[in-house]
Amino acid sequence: MSVTAPERKRVRHPVPPAKWPTREEAARSRWFSPITLGTRLVAAERTWVPAMVPWRATDDGFVTQDVLDWYARFAEGQPGVLVVEATGIRDIPSGPLLRIGDDRFVPGLSRLVETVREASRGRTRIFIQIIDFLTVRRRPEPEKYFMRYLEVTDPLRVQLALWLDDKRWREAPEDEVRGFLREADRVTLETVLTDRELEALDYGYRERVWDLHLPWIRELPRVLPGLFAEAARRAQTAGFDGVELHYAHAYTMASFLSRLNTRTDGYGGTLPHRVRLPLAVLAAVRARVGPDYPVGIRYLGDEVVEGGSRVDDAVWFGIKFAEGGVDYLSVSKGGRFEDAKQPKIGEAVYPYTGESGYECMPTVLSDARGPFGRNVPLAAAIRRALRGAGHTTPVVTSGGITTFEQAEGILERGEADCVAAARQSLADPDWFRKVRLGLGHLVRRCEFTNYCEGLDQRHKQVTCKLWDRKLDPTEPTVRLASDGKRRLLPPSWTAPSAD
Ligand SMILES: Cc1cc2nc3c(=O)[nH]c(=O)nc-3n(C[C@H](O)[C@H](O)[C@H](O)COP(=O)(O)O)c2cc1C
Ligand code: SF4
Repeated sequence: MSVTAPERKRVRHPVPPAKWPTREEAARSRWFSPITLGTRLVAAERTWVPAMVPWRATDDGFVTQDVLDWYARFAEGQPGVLVVEATGIRDIPSGPLLRIGDDRFVPGLSRLVETVREASRGRTRIFIQIIDFLTVRRRPEPEKYFMRYLEVTDPLRVQLALWLDDKRWREAPEDEVRGFLREADRVTLETVLTDRELEALDYGYRERVWDLHLPWIRELPRVLPGLFAEAARRAQTAGFDGVELHYAHAYTMASFLSRLNTRTDGYGGTLPHRVRLPLAVLAAVRARVGPDYPVGIRYLGDEVVEGGSRVDDAVWFGIKFAEGGVDYLSVSKGGRFEDAKQPKIGEAVYPYTGESGYECMPTVLSDARGPFGRNVPLAAAIRRALRGAGHTTPVVTSGGITTFEQAEGILERGEADCVAAARQSLADPDWFRKVRLGLGHLVRRCEFTNYCEGLDQRHKQVTCKLWDRKLDPTEPTVRLASDGKRRLLPPSWTAPSAD
């Protein structure tokens, strides 16, 4: 299992020095060599920008000019593949997160595809990550929780009567029960409330895929294949080169795969039952988009939570996904709700805190192993098993990749087929192009201290602290974030020679 937080913070790792290749060395390298995804889509390079939510959509989920500018800026760096942020498959309000749950979202998404094609001069393949998530509410004011949200159930009354040794609580008026609990001490609350009620008080109410008492949760296996398939069809209509099913981190599909999934309706418990819905979604998507449209899956090589799925589960799922006809597997790690830090009152629990969160986006404050390439062994184990079973499915790795040598070493050792970089690409979206042109010394190196993640946590427009250093508000072309303090996009860069 992972180390504890205090142990982890003992070592501050320097960002590794980089020896950059010449233009010729880059041209001969594996990282800058092409790869086929699916039956016929060729990506010019194995460089990859994984999904990152920048919080730039409208509140009703539409593509904005800021979204177009954001992806155009990544496309200028010409990665082999650029995956657009987690985009909601349902037509429900979800804040400034992109949505694809209705045909009215297609025109904006088409513009996004065109923008990326143009800005990358046709060199970048553009995928979109599609996601379903369950309800997560903000941590409530205790007063509101007890007076409004908490359901006063018979079992709660029984617990109260037992704890206070007073049968009257079984019949007492609801208002009296609420008023008592509002004033009660912690020991009483911990005794009479269930774990889930306490969690709703301390962290905010959160649904689980195994909440079979909720009809809409019971229905997920009936509803999700159609929702994912329709979203994939819209992605195809909008012109995306492919679609990525988000089966990772804290969200619905990852939770079906989780060892913690105790559903008793044939969709939880054993490995075959846990993978059943994810495979049904894959099959429904495939049936809708046809055999040649690239469909990838991002999922967890390790959940990094107590009782959660580990790499052996992930290896088993990987083979099932390959048998189910997936076109690539992108392996991530952690990012679960189960061990997330307690949010402040009025804020929602954030899955990238806690140990599993650390493992998802590791920082330089680490254990002896450090954050760099930390998740590669998971991808390597999955790839090894796939190849052993005769599958050629490409595997994408990510997590603390920041140099050419790292990426090239991973490919050389056969640990993955594509190497992705999220934060390094955020720090410098031109970095792939700089390296390919033999200009690696110009790369703005990510510091892996997660200023960007802090913004994501507060659903603020994501920017990088390294761009802010270049802030000159008097420059008329510099657009600022809504707080007026940060530049919204990285400084531009022009390559000195044609490529
Ligand atoms: C601001 C931000 C937003 C992210 N949003 C997503 C997302 O929408 N979907 C996803 O699968 N991963 C998301 N991630 C995780 C990254 O794709 C990546 O797995 C992680 O940052 C580790 O890679 P890195 O070390 O190269 O940054 C996000 C990361 C950051 C920093
Ligand atoms: S804010 Fe920090 S961690 Fe995030 S991309 Fe920039 S340098 Fe890297």
